[in-house]
Amino acid sequence: MENRLNELNGSQWLYWTNSIYETFFPPDRTHFLRKKHGAIKPPQLMAEIISFFTKSGELILDPFAGVGGTLLGAELAGRRALGIELNPEWVEIYQKIAAGYREFKGELIPAVEAGENARRFASKMICGDCLAILKGFAPQTFAAIITDPPYGCKHGSTGFKRETNFNMNSEDERDFGNCEDYDAFLVKIEAFGREAYRLLMPDRYLVLLVGDRYYHGEYLPLGYLVAETLRKTGFKWKGTRIWWNKATQRRLKPYAINTCFIPNITHQNILIMRKE
Ligand SMILES: C[S@@+](CC[C@H](N)C(=O)[O-])C[C@H]1O[C@@H](n2cnc3c(N)ncnc32)[C@H](O)[C@@H]1O
Repeated sequence: MENRLNELNGSQWLYWTNSIYETFFPPDRTHFLRKKHGAIKPPQLMAEIISFFTKSGELILDPFAGVGGTLLGAELAGRRALGIELNPEWVEIYQKIAAGYREFKGELIPAVEAGENARRFASKMICGDCLAILKGFAPQTFAAIITDPPYGCKHGSTGFKRETNFNMNSEDERDFGNCEDYDAFLVKIEAFGREAYRLLMPDRYLVLLVGDRYYHGEYLPLGYLVAETLRKTGFKWKGTRIWWNKATQRRLKPYAINTCFIPNITHQNILIMRKE
């Protein structure tokens, strides 16, 4: 039977349906440039996701592009991606990588080592608010939308104002990571979902990486809440993969030992939504 979604064979497809998704991706050669952004994803992971949800040459959108994990993954997978990122500092880092690196035999290596014939990156990043920019695209422009939105809010997990280096747009209302609370965040996710639904080709996928949180002393299943919100915009929730990268695992923190159970949340939810 013709494979309508990707270029994997039956066993590769089957392997990818496991709801537990463990990877071992050590930092790659662009990591030292990307790490200034505190919430990066491995390009190798993004390449695997892209390879499942698209065919070679198809166009992917990442509306919360950061320093370009998805765009670099698209290069590794032989696809093209368009990224949108609010913070010009992150766009600049991606541009630097795009100018100085090439894909070569499944790796990102400095252009000088790759040789003159190595292909320049096809993926582009633009700077601005995705909610405004997406309105300018025609319906059904993208074969997949694969993204890692901010999933904090102004008051983080503790109730105190968050001081992390990746929320550098802290005064910018347009930043999804800068909402007053998670209800306000989900309102923004719904607005994004409506645009995403319009821009996707039929029967194609919106894939989001969303971490659950610990908030005011309770577990907040943010992955579930985001998926339920996106269902309101027309998407069907086809599944979740629980992902963790063993290679970059941080030490477990001793929260409330001998007193009360508090999890070390080491996984992220990969939410798989389909336009049907
Ligand atoms: C979790 S990070 C993405 C990191 C990315 N996956 C990478 O590997 O570099 C989310 C990004 O969304 C950006 N962002 C937040 N609100 C935005 C908006 N309205 N439009 C575009 N980008 C936005 C933030 O500046 C942040 O860099």
